[in-house]
Order: sequence, then C-alpha cells, then structure tokens
Amino acid sequence: MKKVVLTGIKPTGTLHIGNYFGAITQAIRLSQDYDARYFIADYHALNTVKDPRILAQDIRGVAAGWLAAGLDPERVIFYRQSAIPETFELTTMLMAFTAKGLMNRAHAYKAAVQENVEQNRDPDAGINMGLYTYPVLMAADILLFDADIVPVGRDQTQHIEMTQDIAHTVNTCYAEEILRIPQPFFREETAVIPGLDGRKMSKSYGNAIPLFASEQALKKLIMRIPTNSQTVEEPKDPATSSIYQLYRYFATAEEQQTLAARYRAGGMGWGHAKEELYAVVNRLLKPLRERYTDIIADTVRIDSILAEGAEKARPIAIATVRRLRKAAGID
Ligand code: TRP
Repeated sequence: MKKVVLTGIKPTGTLHIGNYFGAITQAIRLSQDYDARYFIADYHALNTVKDPRILAQDIRGVAAGWLAAGLDPERVIFYRQSAIPETFELTTMLMAFTAKGLMNRAHAYKAAVQENVEQNRDPDAGINMGLYTYPVLMAADILLFDADIVPVGRDQTQHIEMTQDIAHTVNTCYAEEILRIPQPFFREETAVIPGLDGRKMSKSYGNAIPLFASEQALKKLIMRIPTNSQTVEEPKDPATSSIYQLYRYFATAEEQQTLAARYRAGGMGWGHAKEELYAVVNRLLKPLRERYTDIIADTVRIDSILAEGAEKARPIAIATVRRLRKAAGID
C-alpha cells in the first residue's frame, strides 16, 4: 500500500511563480510516489473572501493553474473541500476533542488579537469563528483522508502539530487508532523564491510575478525591477542582484555561468540583464500560460474534474467518519 500525501490549496488570489516552485512542482512530484489527495480549501478562503464572484473565480483559477502545471486528475484525487460534507461532520466531532486553550495559542488568531490590542480596539474586533476554529477545520481535512504526509510551508507547522494533537486525543480516548497521525513534509528551503524586490516572493508584499501573466505584463514587471545606479561599464555582483537570483530558477547551469560572467566583466547594463531574465522566464511560462488559457476557458470541464475527484474522495471520508461515529457511540 502506498502512503498518502495530502495538501490543501487556499483559493485566495492568483498563483505566482513562488507558488509554482514552492508548492506546486513539489506536490506534483510527490504524486508519483504517493496516493495523492489535493483539494481546494474553499471554506478556509470564505473566512476572508466575501465577494462571491471573486471566490468563485479563484476556486476555478487555482484549479486550472494546478492542472496547467501538470497535476494529473487520473493520478491525484483532486476535489473541492466544500464537496465533501464529511469534512464538516468530522470538524464538529473534532471540536469535542479540541481544547479551547489550544485554539487560543494559534499563531494567526493570536496575531489578530495582538494587532487589535495594539490599535486599542476590542481584542475580538473583526475576528470571526472561522479564523478561531481554522485549525480544527484543517485537522478534519487532513484526518479525514488518512494522510501520512502533508506538504506545507513552514508557516503551517503549528497547524500540523495541532492536527497531531487532536488526533492523539481522539485515539487515546477510544484506545484505538481511529485517526492516522500525519507528519508535516516541508518544502525545500531552496524553494523560497525571491520576489521583484529581493524579499521572499509573496502576495502580501506585492512583489510577486503572476504565473499566468501575459507576455506584455510579464515584460513590464521584469523591466520595473528596481536596480542600483551602477553604470553599464561597471562590473556587477550576481550574488546581490535580485535579477540574477531570480534568473537562477529558470536558467540552465550553463546559462547561469554565462550570465554571471557577463555581470562580473562589466559592460552589461541592468536593462540587458532584465532582457535575459525575461527570456528565460517566458520560456518556462509560455507553455504553462497556453495550457492555462485553454483550461480556464472551459469551466464546465474544470467543474467536472473536481466533481469526479469528490466522487473518488467521498468513500474515504465516509469510512473515517463512520469509524469515529461508531467509536463514539453515535452509530
Ligand atoms: N491552511 C493552508 C494554507 O493556508 C491551506 C489548507 C487548508 C491546508 N487545509 C489544509 C493545507 C490541509 C494542508 C492540509 O496554506
């Protein structure tokens, strides 16, 4: 029996190349060796996204993005969280095993409270129960599908630990291994892509390169990368250049050496360096963008892929809920 890999994708905003190198390619690689269960966490997104058009668009956009990047729905069970009602049944059951104090310690919740206190607001201002119970819903997502490993970014470590904690509580209570204890699987550190300003690429920093930007938009973004005032003649240091650091993700080893040598030799201006960057970025993104454009044009097909995924996922979910209900005396 293959081990199970599971991860959730929050549909908030458009995918960028940080997501691609950080999460998408790794998850697709893992799906070759594991039974993969990947889903769109649309109820997690509802906590923050209240515009129905935007949420609907982002659910399909993110699904199309992963499909364009090579997720094979024949190999991966690919579904929407909202299509699995057992998620919410399990969430309710897990609530009974989750200490309120555990939720009080959740980083995202604590940060929101602290921000309110600093701003002299009521500590609970703007905090909904969805944020407060976010880790329980996430635990249900994971435990429902017997996940062995959960690939996540470092920022999700605490959520996985809480999931383990809650599962342990359940298993100890009924002296039986009802829920499989998952392990976090961290992305390689090399997968922290620098953004346009050299800081980690992130939606919230506004320094991201969208994965499916048009050629024109892509070129504009790259040409706008801030640079220092070194002249064309001056030799330049590849190590401190965000242009070069980004280039490394897209270029072959040989291309990297060549560009580094041109930097050091002097005689190459920033404009040229940006042209070189654009060429390699677009080389990778062009076929992705073309696939994405085809896929996103057919929302009926996207919906049917996700519906088929849900159909495959539900029997697994039903079995887990049944196990726990039986153990709990709610048969
Ligand atoms: N919280 C995750 C994020 O913000 C998304 C998510 C929801 C998830 N449920 C999950 C990730 C279950 C892994 C497993 O990125």
